[in-house]
Amino acid sequence: MKYAVIGTSWITEEFIMGANLVEGMELLGVYSRSYSKGKALAEKFGAPRVFVDLYDLARNADVEAVYVASPNSLHYEQSKMLLKAGKHVICEKPITVEPEQLAELQAIAAENGKVYIEAIMYMFNPVRPKLKASMQALGNITSAHFDFSQLSSKYPAYKRGENPNIFNPAFATGCLMDLGIYCIYPALDLFGCPKNIWSTAQFLESGADSSGTTVFSYDKMLLTMTWSKIAQGFCGSEILGDGGTVTIDSISQLNGIRFCRKGGEPVEVVGETPKHIIMSHEAKALLDFATKPEETAERYAEASRMALAVSTVMKKIRTQSGIVFNV
Ligand SMILES: NC(=O)c1ccc[n+]([C@@H]2O[C@H](COP(=O)([O-])OP(=O)(O)OC[C@H]3O[C@@H](n4cnc5c(N)ncnc54)[C@H](OP(=O)(O)O)[C@@H]3O)[C@@H](O)[C@H]2O)c1
Repeated sequence: MKYAVIGTSWITEEFIMGANLVEGMELLGVYSRSYSKGKALAEKFGAPRVFVDLYDLARNADVEAVYVASPNSLHYEQSKMLLKAGKHVICEKPITVEPEQLAELQAIAAENGKVYIEAIMYMFNPVRPKLKASMQALGNITSAHFDFSQLSSKYPAYKRGENPNIFNPAFATGCLMDLGIYCIYPALDLFGCPKNIWSTAQFLESGADSSGTTVFSYDKMLLTMTWSKIAQGFCGSEILGDGGTVTIDSISQLNGIRFCRKGGEPVEVVGETPKHIIMSHEAKALLDFATKPEETAERYAEASRMALAVSTVMKKIRTQSGIVFNV
């Protein structure tokens, strides 16, 4: 499948390195607002085409699929244009800002027989079933805590008075959209829809949420979630039962999973996998959904359903926390 990329930051490079591991994926071109940036990335990965006009990319008949890694506020319009032009689209998280936008684009993709998925490591990570299997030994699950607190490399620039996209609400960014989403995916996947949701957030002067807390309540358990872009967490995440505890070092990548019993030694369930290898499963899913639609229909439907459920819950958390975007 010949594909192009939108965006030239490090995450695009990780995706390309991942897709390079997938037989059948071929990078055809790079879109950038700057020809020199696009050319540099295209040359680095041996792609023959550089696009500086999105319409040229959309019109190019050789491009079958596009990986969209632009700022969040652009995802909807760019994906819509590409889907309408007959491209498969894999779009970085959060796939759209509003759940209504996602539902609209899912319908357009279905009408055009195209694949439209969120590039979210959790859903396509082969470790996900192992995490679920390890939870079987927990007994009654009584509580869980998911944390994704990662001090942003852009925070020093923000503190110097610069205005990086990630802390600029005009791009629909901030901590929930960037990191919180990685807790919401496993929350809904592992425990289902909560009975109640409570959320609050802290804000920078720019208006972006810098950290947040959300509690999901279920019949017999509570799940607390925390995220921050202005401090580094080291405790990781935990799922606790009366028969043991599963600890997870990285909730986004599902790296470093252990099973622990009171008084016993932790038993490793999953080790560490480099990010581009985890992302290769997103590229493989895109390829499989596009080329084997009947065989993969159930997985595709699950990915679509989860993306919409997550987007809907994220909207609720934004409303409760007072997170607004001036896009
Ligand atoms: N999966 C992951 O682990 C992961 C990690 C990081 C980010 N992401 C997601 O990837 C997406 C991009 O994040 P990022 O941090 O790379 O964002 P970013 O650096 O702000 O922007 C990404 C790219 O978009 C273009 N761009 C920047 N500002 C723009 C503007 N004002 N108007 C139009 N285009 C602009 C730039 O490409 P050109 O200058 O070449 O046009 C840039 O390389 C986000 O949706 C984010 O959530 C995912």
